Amino acid sequence: MGALPYGFFHSPKSPQRKVSVLMSIPRHGRSALLATAAVSVALAASVAVIGTADAASTLGASAAQTGRYYGAAIAAGRLGDATYTRILTTEFNSVTPENEMKWDATEPSQGRFTYTNGDRILNQGVAMGAKVRGHALLWHQQQPSWAQSLSGTALRNAAINHVTQVATHYKGKIYAWDVVNEAFADGGSGARRDSNLQRTGNDWIEAAFRAARAADPAAKLCYNDYNTDGVNAKSTGIYNMVRDFKSRGVPIDCVGFQSHLGTGLPGDYQANLQRFADLGVDVQITELDVAQGSNQANVYAGVTRACMAVSRCTGITVWGIRDSDSWRTGENPLLFDNSGNKKAAYTSVLNALNAGGPTTPPTTSNPPPPTTSTPPPPTGACAATVSLNSWTGGYVATVRVTAGQAAVSGWTVSLSLPSGSAITGVWSAANTGSTGAVSFRNVSYNGQIAAGGFTEFGFQGTGSGPTATPTCAAG
Ligand code: G3I
Repeated sequence: MGALPYGFFHSPKSPQRKVSVLMSIPRHGRSALLATAAVSVALAASVAVIGTADAASTLGASAAQTGRYYGAAIAAGRLGDATYTRILTTEFNSVTPENEMKWDATEPSQGRFTYTNGDRILNQGVAMGAKVRGHALLWHQQQPSWAQSLSGTALRNAAINHVTQVATHYKGKIYAWDVVNEAFADGGSGARRDSNLQRTGNDWIEAAFRAARAADPAAKLCYNDYNTDGVNAKSTGIYNMVRDFKSRGVPIDCVGFQSHLGTGLPGDYQANLQRFADLGVDVQITELDVAQGSNQANVYAGVTRACMAVSRCTGITVWGIRDSDSWRTGENPLLFDNSGNKKAAYTSVLNALNAGGPTTPPTTSNPPPPTTSTPPPPTGACAATVSLNSWTGGYVATVRVTAGQAAVSGWTVSLSLPSGSAITGVWSAANTGSTGAVSFRNVSYNGQIAAGGFTEFGFQGTGSGPTATPTCAAG
């Protein structure tokens, strides 16, 4: 097999496998890395620094001392394994579904959503009092076959509807969503990867982030990718996208660095995290695993120290629990061996977490999606406002129905769609008509609105969304 850009290789067992090949850091390079970490810690004079006096004995507890989480990707099918679940509940305070919230799992046929296994992961996390990272709303892999056969506006609309529906199902329960996964190309171009999603237009990523924000304003919204473990063409392409998003108000809160690593760590791993943090986003290590070898414990320690030294690095997730749970069959890349025993890498991580670092900044809640302002409705009446997430050829509309000074028992919202616009999907309301003059009636669970309270429903359409303020009739 010929050399692949950035040291990627394809495993004969798994054509989509990719692992960064990292040179072993020479002794002086490692010293430089550690020195950099030490300087960063020293410079963070204005924030609390937690030291070894507070040493904790589990990964999650030690990470929590500085406001961070230490998580694992978990599989619903393994939760019945007692050793697996014991380690999970003892050591980790964040979970990520390894496969259960991906598009093929949650929308196996178009418009039919299945959350059984995703909910099992969510419930496991909730039962543990852990954070739940959502993974992943849109990705060129693990798409259901019906989506793979779509293109253009039909695919764009299906993708945005998917984001809206899944983020709405999990609204308020997800700490951070990987909204878009692996959209940049490997190699030296720094460009987007070609994919069916990319071919719907370069704005597909921002459309996805806007739809996710509208659906779940409380979740942190992340872009997630691999082979971004240092300053390189790919990470710089992503950096430029994030900088652009921040400058234009596209809602992005975090960047995930998967960190599927070989036997070394780039000397600028921490500096790369820091340059993203300096753009005003959190950074997270999202899928960490490290090839077994004499240097495994050192690489794990280096990643941990780097995150601890960057105040906006809010947590680390390892991609599995025991070596036998890993997607990297035969590489033994995790913190626990096949029998569930702690490895040397485990101890190196725990020590690095307990060595401390600057605390993470307090979490601030995201602003609610924009709505047009209207005067409060009179007693007994209701009012409706629309916020739009539009892209070329389509839109998602979120409609807020607000009761006046008395409670409302049932409501109907009417509005006019521009010529060329047609509704393709509605949630939390029943519509009459899909073009021109349309109306939406409450469904069984959202007709009652307390005085001054509100409820929301949404719809998706082709063409341009409505521009005029809708009317609302109570009763
Ligand atoms: O569940 C079926 C099973 O019923 C069937 O018998 C078996 C036959 O192959 O396949 C099973 O599904 C497999 C699934 O993992 C669950 O084990 C899929 O074939 C296999 O492709 C899938 O692999 C997942 C891979 O993403 C897919 O691209 C890995 O578990 C998962 O760890 C991996 O995770 C990705 C992240 O999402 C994104 N970053 C890279 C990372 C590693 O590839």
